[in-house]
Amino acid sequence: MQALFSRRSIRKYTHDAVSDAEIKEILEAAMSAPSAGNQQPWHFVVINDRKILDRIPEFHPHSLMCREAHIAILVCGDPSLEKHVGYWVQDCAAATQNLLVAVHAKGLGGVWVGVYPREERIVGFRKLLNIPEHVVPFAVIPVGRPAEQKPPRPDRYNETRIHTNAW
Ligand SMILES: Cc1cc2nc3c(=O)[nH]c(=O)nc-3n(C[C@H](O)[C@H](O)[C@H](O)COP(=O)(O)O)c2cc1C
Repeated sequence: MQALFSRRSIRKYTHDAVSDAEIKEILEAAMSAPSAGNQQPWHFVVINDRKILDRIPEFHPHSLMCREAHIAILVCGDPSLEKHVGYWVQDCAAATQNLLVAVHAKGLGGVWVGVYPREERIVGFRKLLNIPEHVVPFAVIPVGRPAEQKPPRPDRYNETRIHTNAW
């Protein structure tokens, strides 16, 4: 609960490295997400090459923080792995949220940067990372050691959005 309530989007990072062990643990958390029929229709591209990270904002207008981040992880959906057609988006969103919470719980900072369903961003990542046509880039999460602090737990609890037994 502490990690859920204190997580915020972090878009500024120090120059310090993120270790391979940390990256592995973050990916383990992502792959622990629930998925429809446990189909796990995801792939993850770890981007740690500075030249590649710097090119992401060329086709994604809201991703400038990739130029500061130590790494970025691209979550991709692979509909060919689906047993339950059409659920890959929810599955990848669950994996992305697990990943984000794990980043925060490890004392790192990250932000969910949306890719799917924007066609130019999907195509941009496919070209940049040589991703096969049938795989859909879903979200990219730049990760680094936080160089900004945000107040924890903005109160988003909203009684008007809760309905009991009927609308
Ligand atoms: C589907 C989705 C797409 C998002 N895309 C971007 C983005 O392109 N660039 C960005 O800086 N933040 C992006 N965000 C982060 C949101 O702006 C952020 O989560 C929201 O403002 C709430 O702030 P918080 O994460 O600090 O609680 C995205 C978040 C989601 C869930």
